[in-house]
Amino acid sequence: MSARRRVWVTQPVFPDVVDRLRDHFDVAAADAVTAYTPAQVADGLRDVDGALVGVTDRIDASAIAGANRLKAIANIGVGYNNLDIAALSAAGVAVTNTPDVLTETTADFAWTLLLAAARRVTEAERWLRDGHWTDWSFERLLGRDLHGSTLGILGMGRIGRAVARRALGFGMRVLYHNRSRLDAAVERECSARWVGKDELLAASDHLVLVVPYGPGTHHAIGAPELARMKSTAVLVNIARGGVVDDAALADALQKGRLAAAGLDVYENEPAVHPALLACRNVVLTPHIASASEATRRAMVSLAVDNLIAALGEGPQAHRPPNLVNADSLLARGT
Ligand code: 8YV
Repeated sequence: MSARRRVWVTQPVFPDVVDRLRDHFDVAAADAVTAYTPAQVADGLRDVDGALVGVTDRIDASAIAGANRLKAIANIGVGYNNLDIAALSAAGVAVTNTPDVLTETTADFAWTLLLAAARRVTEAERWLRDGHWTDWSFERLLGRDLHGSTLGILGMGRIGRAVARRALGFGMRVLYHNRSRLDAAVERECSARWVGKDELLAASDHLVLVVPYGPGTHHAIGAPELARMKSTAVLVNIARGGVVDDAALADALQKGRLAAAGLDVYENEPAVHPALLACRNVVLTPHIASASEATRRAMVSLAVDNLIAALGEGPQAHRPPNLVNADSLLARGT
């Protein structure tokens, strides 16, 4: 029997990058995109030392109940609400994520959605492709301006700050709400001012959501919050499904209580709420905010580095650059 340790790569991702794992481990890599059942996840983890996983792979206490060798999970993504961190920590499984490398690309995409939704780009293109452009009207497909307006940002971590910095070029005033207020120097650098959540909702002409998902942010934007927003406002969600109540948002969009929305994430991905699909004033993309070639490669590469290090190999052995749960090492007794 081979003495080499084993890792499972749950989804097909850049084989040339994943190949670096083969210098250290035996690798079982999925060759097709797979939506695993909980039983399949448990099976895949049963006899491996580590796994490279994507945001659609859900790993909880039952998934690792029989995974006696498992020591590390490297998530390809900065958000890790697909993983039960408490259960993994208690079992001594180190968890890592991929911050920083996707910050600028994801911030670019917030603006892609904001511009597209405010200026009705996808709606206009559909109209043109459907052959409706037979005359010219001054009052057709009128949108909302970005320049000179107020941008609100809910969640002012790395990505929120990168979104804020881009607002300068549009001559926008930036307000933000975050659990903790940023240092004055960082606020100055982002030209952003902290306000309470209610003021953020009421004052924003455009609101971008960049908060991590968890019990504290479930439906952070639901019917009561939407009711506080301007009916002319545009909402963008690049955070996580579940931060927004999709049914309440669709209702507000249909009834004209919100001008438009741009969404990259949904409550039941890959299913999209049928009422959202029926709205003409929403731009819908399939969770691609970090999906530039360079950034997706950088994410996978960082996850590979993390996994190698978390399993005690390579130049950063036992010091994975992006460890999420330091307490896992205590549980392991290392
Ligand atoms: C996805 C993301 O990871 O990093 C995150 O948290 O949501 C995205 O970057 C990426 O789209 C892969 O699914």
